[in-house]
Amino acid sequence: MNKVHYLINIKIVLMCNKDDLKYRISEVINSIIFSISNITDEDIEKYATTFREVGFVQIPSIIDSEALANLYQYVIDNSYKYFVSYQGKDREYFGRSISGHRFKRLFFKPGTEYDKIALANDKIWQIFSDELEMMSVKISELIRPIMISVGENYRYDYGSIFYYGENDFIGLHHDSHYGDMINAQFPMSMNVDGCIRIKYNDELIPFYDNPGCLNILGAHAWHDVPTISKIYNDKKPQRFNFTLVYMPIN
Ligand SMILES: [Fe+2]
Repeated sequence: MNKVHYLINIKIVLMCNKDDLKYRISEVINSIIFSISNITDEDIEKYATTFREVGFVQIPSIIDSEALANLYQYVIDNSYKYFVSYQGKDREYFGRSISGHRFKRLFFKPGTEYDKIALANDKIWQIFSDELEMMSVKISELIRPIMISVGENYRYDYGSIFYYGENDFIGLHHDSHYGDMINAQFPMSMNVDGCIRIKYNDELIPFYDNPGCLNILGAHAWHDVPTISKIYNDKKPQRFNFTLVYMPIN
């Protein structure tokens, strides 16, 4: 293959990637536009009341779960190498205890200067980074009525996707050391009954990844993600959690 053909081929692959990804994102966004238009002010007030009391609330059916599954599967199949692995045991670190954990996370913007340089000429990364960041901003605009009611003085800061494969988990912890943030999360489990558990009145209460739900998680709520285990012998268990982080406006 000569150089021109090689470059044309690369361009075609990149264009397909971009169109495929854009299509999946548009399906997700359209489904949110539809469901948000059906939520009443009374519903929103009810969710905000629960959030103020528990530090967490689950809102059902905000995203079409098939559209979300199509997007998640596409992202993991085509951008797995950009996910960062986290693994550690329970330990003390600068005076605070870090819970055991094992998971991967895709940040939509490079996390370090090193990553910025390493990814500067990576065309596939650019597509995922740009499109997923645009999607996050758009979704933050769509869910604004809900997010304002749970935290008036917060703004969308950044987006990422958590990924849990078999044996992955996060031990019991809270996130208030990162500041007074609020997370808006769109979890989905495949071939496993995944959940987040929230500590409330000294009990760990499971909130299963109900299809298309939006979880709103405050920084002070203690929570964990139980180990992802196989429930079907031949099917890979996976849990995804697209997360928008909101920080207080100073
Ligand atoms: Fe957390």
